[in-house]
Amino acid sequence: MGEERAYDIVLFGATGFTGGLTADYLARHAPDGLRWALAGRNPARLAAVRDRLADIDPALAELPLLTADVTDPESLRLVAESARVVATTVGPYVHHGEPLVAACARAGTDYLDITGEPEFVDTMYVRHHAEAVRTGARLVHACGFDSIPHDVGVWFTLKHLPAGAPVSVDGYVRAGGRFSAGTYHSALTAFSRTAQAGRAARERRAVEPRPQGRRVRGGPGRVGRVRELDMWAVPLPTVDPQVVRRSAVARPEYGPDFRYRHHAAVKRLPTVLLGAAGLGGVLGLVKLPPTRRWLLGRLASGDGPSARQRAKSWFTVRFVGSGGGRTVLTEVAGGDPGYDETSKMLAESALCLALDDGLPTTSGQVTPVAAMGDALLRRLTDAGLTFRLLKG
Ligand SMILES: NC(=O)c1ccc[n+]([C@@H]2O[C@H](COP(=O)([O-])OP(=O)(O)OC[C@H]3O[C@@H](n4cnc5c(N)ncnc54)[C@H](OP(=O)(O)O)[C@@H]3O)[C@@H](O)[C@H]2O)c1
Repeated sequence: MGEERAYDIVLFGATGFTGGLTADYLARHAPDGLRWALAGRNPARLAAVRDRLADIDPALAELPLLTADVTDPESLRLVAESARVVATTVGPYVHHGEPLVAACARAGTDYLDITGEPEFVDTMYVRHHAEAVRTGARLVHACGFDSIPHDVGVWFTLKHLPAGAPVSVDGYVRAGGRFSAGTYHSALTAFSRTAQAGRAARERRAVEPRPQGRRVRGGPGRVGRVRELDMWAVPLPTVDPQVVRRSAVARPEYGPDFRYRHHAAVKRLPTVLLGAAGLGGVLGLVKLPPTRRWLLGRLASGDGPSARQRAKSWFTVRFVGSGGGRTVLTEVAGGDPGYDETSKMLAESALCLALDDGLPTTSGQVTPVAAMGDALLRRLTDAGLTFRLLKG
């Protein structure tokens, strides 16, 4: 562990729902000697989180607490300069995320978040990637359910296909569970900003270099029956296929011609059509400021599913991959996707960047696979997520 900074890992947002679970995970799983701290805007609430952690491990009664607010750039500079890795759960990221990305890019500090907001990721690329490349900071977005199971799941799938051939992978997601106030607020915010998201994507395309001598495509899939799963697929226009595509651009292992398509898998098509109609209604309502305010007020920050509700939640992502004359079916599966597994994925990513030897040499905005690849796959497997070859 490097000694030049006071902390190996600082967790920002530990007073929130997902941040609290991430703090609990680190309290249970951080190796002895890890120098870590909690950061947040409210010292009394941070102290209450630390008291809870001390019940898990009495040594954590002395865990350092750093006061920092996203509206106070100096406080974020101090956090970024004191840490080797900062992991943040302070969202919606499009509203609260940029000042910490800027501080970490400037200070050469590795940064991780759990955003699922494409507009935020694209805007951070345009504004902070170049500086992070100069300082050596790794800016790794989407280290939660968005997008680690999909990004690492495709990486795992490639290991079962012949190298060097054109490859096509289709991902099919299924999940059951409830969401937190933070997820609800971020989703409503994203729904209300489709024009801004389109603009951010165009600005990124205008400055981001294209892969040379290779073809890489990725996006939402299409509606259709999936023989291998005996289910229906519907396109899923989340940040996940963008992350998978960027991993494929970054890593030669994805071959000369790679394509990924992302779907939700459902047993009955009418379920999806009803869901899409409901979503269409919400999309209309969030565009209008009064109804948006009303919808945002329905859940208070810090709320989320109980441990009992989370224990009943689950996810699977199945991948049909083909290339070099072979077709395989693989699966990534776990428990509660939004919170128990997301906090595990964020904490393991932070531990991976802070502690693991032999990671790829990268800097700037990078995907989880580009930054951590096999080391992250090993950590997630050891932490209880399952990665399996089902057929092929
Ligand atoms: N990718 C995924 O799969 C996934 C899964 C779960 C969550 N998420 C995302 O993670 C984010 C957090 O969700 P959550 O449910 O944990 O939300 P939450 O409970 O509302 O927590 C929000 C946190 O942000 C902090 N915060 C708000 N304004 C701040 C400011 N000005 N300065 C410093 N801290 C500030 C809050 O601090 P106080 O306690 O002081 O208010 C709290 O710690 C959301 O964007 C959500 O979409 C993503």
